[in-house]
Amino acid sequence: MAQLWGGRFTKQTDAAVKAFNDSLRFDCRLWKEDIEGSCAHAEMLGRKGILTSAETEEILAGLKGIAQDIESGALQFDPQYEDIHSFVEAHLTDRIGAAGKKLHTGRSRNDQVALDMRMYIRTQCGLVREQLRDLLEVILRIMEENTETCMPGFTHLQKAQPVTLAHHFGAYFEMLRRDAERLQDCRDRLNLCPLGAGALAGTTYPLDRNYTASRLGFDGPTRNSMDSVSDRDYLIEFLSDLSLIMMHLSRFSEELILWNSNEYRFVEMDDAYSTGSSIMPQKKNPDICELVRGKTGRVYGALNALLTTMKGLPLAYNKDMQEDKEPAFDAIDTVRSCLELFTGMLATLRFRGDVMRRSAANGFTNATDAADYLVVKGIPFRDAHGIIGRLVLYCIDKDCGIEDLSLDELREFSDAFGEDLYDAVSIRNCVDRRGTAGAPGREAMQEQIRLEKEWLRSWQTL
Ligand code: ARG
Repeated sequence: MAQLWGGRFTKQTDAAVKAFNDSLRFDCRLWKEDIEGSCAHAEMLGRKGILTSAETEEILAGLKGIAQDIESGALQFDPQYEDIHSFVEAHLTDRIGAAGKKLHTGRSRNDQVALDMRMYIRTQCGLVREQLRDLLEVILRIMEENTETCMPGFTHLQKAQPVTLAHHFGAYFEMLRRDAERLQDCRDRLNLCPLGAGALAGTTYPLDRNYTASRLGFDGPTRNSMDSVSDRDYLIEFLSDLSLIMMHLSRFSEELILWNSNEYRFVEMDDAYSTGSSIMPQKKNPDICELVRGKTGRVYGALNALLTTMKGLPLAYNKDMQEDKEPAFDAIDTVRSCLELFTGMLATLRFRGDVMRRSAANGFTNATDAADYLVVKGIPFRDAHGIIGRLVLYCIDKDCGIEDLSLDELREFSDAFGEDLYDAVSIRNCVDRRGTAGAPGREAMQEQIRLEKEWLRSWQTL
């Protein structure tokens, strides 16, 4: 028996219809969750006296055997079965006979698939979050090693003010930290058990939903049976969390692509994480970053696909919802491989501190500091801004920096300039005087690192 229904039909399903309708080829991924959910359901039916203890034992042993055989490869997903639920139930009945046919008492594939998918996403939430942790550890290590590595900070991709590499990477730490927090939040919200909702309206059997919920590690049962079988919010939320991760990885990738270019030369990618060109022998391309940036579109695509699939669905279950799986699985695989590769690439990246420092020292990243210097000397900021603006124009003409001008030249612009100007506009001092909480100054940066470390130390695996 490859099919769970058929009593009210007089004809075989058309082959094309079967192929169009079947989902085993992709929902076979849910086999572990399906079997675990079935075990919990059977145990509960046994405890409530709906199944005898002998039947319950037979079912549990049968399910265990199926799981072992799938694991070992002895049992393959034969496409004659419609979906993972049919596959498991049919094999159970083949193996243990009559008792197998009782497993589905008080259950529908609607609450079954809702359960399987929730459990699967719950696990993936945890796994992606652990991968974020690995990446955050690498970022923090780079931050600790580079609190003294000055580099230009940019706005409009124009050099703006000097920062440090630690500070720049600290920004990505924040983004990815929020991503990890969001995943935790998503998991906490989704952790209610839909099993027992039946097709849509619960069942007439005295099921113990609290038992199955806690047996499967949920915080409790879902509250409304129609919502339980028709809700995919948790999945949309998860996909939007994944989309944000990709958005962050994509921005990070874009920067590293720029930094790895001949124009910047801020970083050098490890040979193991780069590829060459078939025609241009000099090439060493940042393909990992480019692929991460490119794959972002797929993950956004999954989010948009599911939002669109759900938008017009009347309550409760509709077959449209079977379309949640392929994009979600693809998004998960994509994000997980991107995180793995990106982390490996970052861990082996070489930073050219000398080049970054030189770059910070030209392009007038210290112009704001020169204006602030005049303010300290009693000149109103707006006037100081004008004076330094003219000074920069003069320097551009001379092709030099503010610090390269003589005191006499400086005094042509304002007699408030003194010897101490040179110290005030040295890049390291410019950075260090930025001591506001969250800024790149030495002490402010040490404090940020301390807080991030503390947060990582308090990490709890979901
Ligand atoms: N393969 C289906 C899905 O993924 C399982 C639920 C089917 N329910 C039904 N009434 N046909 O949504």
